[in-house]
Order: sequence, then structure tokens, then C-alpha cells
Amino acid sequence: MHRSRGGFNGFAVLMSVFLLCLPANSQLTTDFYSKTCPNVLQIVRREVMKAIKVETRMAASLIRLHFHDCFVNGCDASLLLDGSDSEKLALANLNSARGFEAVDTIKAAVESQCSGVVSCADILTIAARDSSLLSGGPTWKVPLGRRDGLVANLTAANTTQLPSPFEGLNSIINKFVAVGLNITDVVSLSGAHTIGQAKCATFSNRLFDFGGTGSPDNTIETSMLSDLQSLCPINGDGNRTTALDRNSQDLFDNHYFQNLINKKGVLSSDQILFSSDEAASTTKALVQTYSTNPSLFFTDFANSMIKMGNINPLTGSNSEIRKNCRVANS
Ligand code: HEM
Ligand SMILES: *[C@@H]1O[C@H](CO)[C@@H](O)[C@H](O)[C@H]1NC(C)=O
Ligand SMILES: *[C@@H]1O[C@H](CO)[C@@H](O)[C@H](O)[C@H]1NC(C)=O
Ligand SMILES: *[C@@H]1O[C@H](CO)[C@@H](O)[C@H](O)[C@H]1NC(C)=O
Ligand SMILES: *[C@@H]1O[C@H](CO)[C@@H](O)[C@H](O)[C@H]1NC(C)=O
Repeated sequence: MHRSRGGFNGFAVLMSVFLLCLPANSQLTTDFYSKTCPNVLQIVRREVMKAIKVETRMAASLIRLHFHDCFVNGCDASLLLDGSDSEKLALANLNSARGFEAVDTIKAAVESQCSGVVSCADILTIAARDSSLLSGGPTWKVPLGRRDGLVANLTAANTTQLPSPFEGLNSIINKFVAVGLNITDVVSLSGAHTIGQAKCATFSNRLFDFGGTGSPDNTIETSMLSDLQSLCPINGDGNRTTALDRNSQDLFDNHYFQNLINKKGVLSSDQILFSSDEAASTTKALVQTYSTNPSLFFTDFANSMIKMGNINPLTGSNSEIRKNCRVANS
């Protein structure tokens, strides 16, 4: 009796271990296109390189597209679809997400060599990796084999899933946890703000009357505060931009974390990783660690990007490989 119960428990434990080892992305592999499109990595690399040569910021824009794709319905290139339900119209993306033309160019170059083979979701994933590397950041082997979704979900993009720069830390953490990421991923992936730009509309609430206090956010360093106040005066042009990583905007490095320690995070959602009360028991220690340990930041960033790229992919014979990233095949 006792023996057979023990045997059953052992079986149950083995089964759970087995199930835990079967992630939804079990079909993604780094050599997925080795027979069907052997040059895909070189093609994407060359096109990303060209795009960054025209505009350095494009590296940042491409990384952000991958993030905003993966958080809404998984990494299925739903963000790239045009139309009335387009995720491009969501609050977090409208007049903000950019690089869609660059993605079209990359896709066209891939199609010209391997028509109908490589998904838009995989192209975004590879382009994000190349953008990190070409900006001086880490590289990694990209698991591939995602397929493209048939529909966009504007409601999801608007409401539940994309974090906002005005949100509290616990709420941001919850959005990461909801897609299977954790606190380490929140900090390492926020490190993508080591490159790129933010517009006044995304941080000007901090500059004059923060949360109805009548004063600026007291976690902004004073010289940066006066610079940002002149860039973004009350009733000024909300589309003017500044570097997310002040004084190191084009180089992918750990300077962003040093800025946070010096109260030079531009977005509230950046600075709260270090300065908020909630940070003390969650993110603060890791911000400090990354600020002095760039190689740990690089390793963790690469691992977290792979994790993010594995959110709910469509695989196998599900859905389709889009011909044009902007529309589902008819
Ligand atoms: C933690 C929650 C996050 C929030 C609240 C957030 C918010 C923002 C905001 C408000 C901007 C500026 C957009 C604009 O001015 O139009 C921005 C830019 C950017 N974000 Fe995030 N972000 C977050 C996490 C991430 C993650 C996980 C990544 C990628 C791994 C990322 C990559 C970027 C990049 C590269 C830019 C610059 C884009 C460009 O210059 O075109 N962000 N983010
Ligand atoms: C999503 O947000 C945008 C921008 O705030 C708004 O124009 C649109 O009506 C919203 N749509 C849905 C379905 O939530
Ligand atoms: C879109 O997302 C919302 C909120 O996450 C969900 O309730 C809805 O079922 C989704 N719609 C489609 C068509 O997937
Ligand atoms: C987050 O997950 C990674 C594995 O994906 C793990 O190495 C890391 O320790 C986790 N971090 C936390 C804070 O749980
Ligand atoms: C920014 O520019 C867009 C398009 O050029 C415009 O529709 C929008 O109103 C501007 N936003 C702000 C905050 O000024």
C-alpha cells in the first residue's frame, strides 16, 4: 500500500517535471531555415545595417517593435498588420512605434530570395537581435520558426498588455509576469532604453506639477530637470524628443543604469526601477548590479530577449507565413 502510493507520487512528480519541460515554444529552433532559406540571417543583418546607417535610431525602433509585438497576443507580428483594428493605433504605438517601412524593406529582401518561407514575426526577432549587436550590445542565437497571426488586437494593445510610462512599478511587473517574464526580465529589458528616444508627451508630467504636488518629480536630477523643462515647456510640442539614455543615446551599454542611480532616468517607469518604494524589494538591487557589471547586463539582456521572443509563438502548421507583413494572406 505504502509502496504503491509512493510509486504513484513518483509518477505524478515525473509527469509534472515532463509537463514543465514542454514549453509552448518547443518547436522553435535556431536552424529552422537552414534548408528553406539558408541566407536569411545574412539578409536581415545586411538590411538592418543599411537602415541604421541611414538613421542610427532605427536600431532602437526595431527592438521596440519586437517588444510591442510579443506582449500583445505573443510574437506573431500582429503589430505589423494595418487596418481598422491595427495595434499601430493603440495608445502606446500611435505616433510612437516606428520602423514599419524598414521592416517592409527587410521582408522584401528576404522574399526576393526565399518567397513565402520566413515569417514576419521571425524577421522582427532577428532584426531586434541585430539591432542590439550593431549598437554595441550583446548578440545571441535566435530561436526561429514562428508563424504570423491572422488578426491584430487593438483592444488588447490598448488596455491590458502594454506597459505605460505612467504606471506604478508593481503594475508594470504584473504585466511582465502575465506574459511569463519576471523581475529580472523587467530590469534587463528596460535596459533597452540605453538607446533611442522618448517624446515630451511621455515624461512631461514629471516636470512641473507631478501628480498634483505642485512641484516636479523629486527623483529627477536638477540639471536634467531644467534641460527637460526647456525642451518640454507647459503646452509645448509633445512630439519633441530627447535621449532615453542621456549622454549615451546611440551606444548599447550599461550607462542607462548609471543614469538611474544618478536620478537621470527620463521616463517615470525608468526611474522607479531604482527610486520607488516598491523597488527596494524588487528591482533596485539589480539596477545597482547592472550599473557596475556590464557583462552581467549583457548576458541577462540576451537571455531575457530570448524569453520575450518565446512568448506564445504560433508554430507548426498553425496560421500562415505572411507575404506582406501589413496584411494577412488572402
Ligand atoms: C518596462 C516597461 C516599459 C515602458 C513603460 C516603456 C515605455 C517606453 C516609452 C514611453 C518610450 C518612448 C516612446 C515615444 O516617445 O514615442 C519607449 C521607447 C523605447 N522602448 Fe520602452 N518601455 C518599456 C519597456 C521596454 C522594453 C521591454 C523594451 C525592449 C526590450 C523597450 C524598448 C524601447 C526602445 C528601444 C525605445 C526607443 C524607441 C525609439 O527610439 O524609436 N522598452 N519605451
Ligand atoms: C485604443 O486607443 C486609441 C488611442 O487612445 C483610441 O483611439 C482607440 O479608439 C482605442 N480603441 C480600442 C478598441 O480600445
Ligand atoms: C483581444 O484581446 C482582448 C483582451 O485581451 C480579448 O478579450 C479578446 O478576446 C481578444 N480578441 C481577439 C480577436 O483575439
Ligand atoms: C527570472 O527567470 C530566469 C530564468 O528565465 C532566472 O534565471 C531568474 O533567476 C529569474 N529571476 C527572478 C527574480 O525570479
Ligand atoms: C504629434 O504629431 C502627430 C502627427 O504628426 C500629431 O497627430 C499629434 O497630435 C502630435 N502630438 C502631440 C502630443 O503634439
